[in-house]
Amino acid sequence: MEKILVRKSNPLKGHVKIDGAKNSALPIIAASLLGTEDIILEDVPDLADVKVILKVLEKLGSEIEYLDNETVKINSSKLNSYQTPAKLMAQMRASFLVMGPLLARLGRTETHMPGGCAIGTRPIDLHLKGFKALGAIILENTDYIGAKAEKGLIGQVIYLDFPSVGATQNIMMAATHAKGETIIENAAKEPEIVDLANFLNKMGADIKGAGTSSIRIKGVNKLYGCTHQIIPDRIEASTFMVAAAISKGDVYIDNIITSHIRPVIAKLREIGCTITEFENEDRVRVIGPDKPKGTKIKTLPYPGFPTDVQAQFMALMTICEGISKVEETVFENRFMHVDELLKMGALIVTEGKEARIAGVPSLKGANVRATDLRAGAALILAGLVAEGTTAINDIYHIDRGYNNIVGKLRNLGANIDRIED
Ligand code: UD1
Repeated sequence: MEKILVRKSNPLKGHVKIDGAKNSALPIIAASLLGTEDIILEDVPDLADVKVILKVLEKLGSEIEYLDNETVKINSSKLNSYQTPAKLMAQMRASFLVMGPLLARLGRTETHMPGGCAIGTRPIDLHLKGFKALGAIILENTDYIGAKAEKGLIGQVIYLDFPSVGATQNIMMAATHAKGETIIENAAKEPEIVDLANFLNKMGADIKGAGTSSIRIKGVNKLYGCTHQIIPDRIEASTFMVAAAISKGDVYIDNIITSHIRPVIAKLREIGCTITEFENEDRVRVIGPDKPKGTKIKTLPYPGFPTDVQAQFMALMTICEGISKVEETVFENRFMHVDELLKMGALIVTEGKEARIAGVPSLKGANVRATDLRAGAALILAGLVAEGTTAINDIYHIDRGYNNIVGKLRNLGANIDRIED
């Protein structure tokens, strides 16, 4: 088993280039099932989760070819199966995103309950409610879910009880071939939704309003090929911004869209960071403060503070002066990193969806476990400022969402290694 070892490091310095967004690449790769011609995707991040969804597509009959490290050609003209491979589906929740495209293109899908990070019960009722509203019949038992619409789907107004990212994407993809117009009300507004809509529109779909809470999709008969560049990963960018802050460093974060990370910039400024934005340049410079001050964050759907940056921010808060507060409103079980941070000497008390963090002068290295993807990133950040060595186990979670985080941090001067245990 591999481990990551982090030792107390000097302030990070230099430039880091952010990759394409995992959470954009996954739905866009799933949406490629809808096209009948070559699709070229650029800036596809080299991640375990991306490899899984590409394998799912291959099993369904798509042809996949890497043109270079970050450019993938997908051709789904020979799509021949509506049954998804159980083993692969169990590895990641986002694999469920193939359901919408399969239903739209083949009028049928059979799949298994998706896996992924255990950060809550993560039901899929809103996805299914959407498919049902479009006229699909849902067939469900404990580990199997199917949907059928042999005569095709029919456009409807669908209200989401919660602006779920995955449900918005799945319904949007299913509705591309529905008869008439579908309107998703209380839709998620994340940048990854806009990226997916832009991609589908390039393929010939008719989608308006992505990025607002009301998305209108007019069904079309066919979707074609296109070339599309995946947007930069705002969560990876935020992680490196926190790395600069926690290490009192001076880091340029390159290849980002600043407007996507507004809440993170605002909160880092509250903590005392100096953040410089550059006109017409896709970068920010983050200088960490000598004495970071505690603050409050509350996770919310976009444009609120992202739940995917909560753990990393909590790592930073453990060494901020005074009391900090975190309220997690998106997932009900996203404090698994707390126990690991406690092992490192942090002072954190949780109650329900709230955590209070009393800043300590320093953390100490410990043997910890990446309990989920972002928790793993948080422990790396904490390890940068902890006395001694922090050994992080179960790093396969980290590989799901960060490409070469060890190499990128080493380039910035971090004392970090990946070793075979
Ligand atoms: C996506 C992201 C994930 C991020 C999350 C919230 C991808 C691949 N993953 O996950 O990194 O943390 O958005 O920003 O893009 N819910 C229901 N019923 C449903 C669907 C969701 O109750 O049918 C609930 C979930 O349990 C959760 C909340 O809604 O509490 C948010 O989930 P959702 O927005 O769907 O997240 P994902 O799409 O799974």
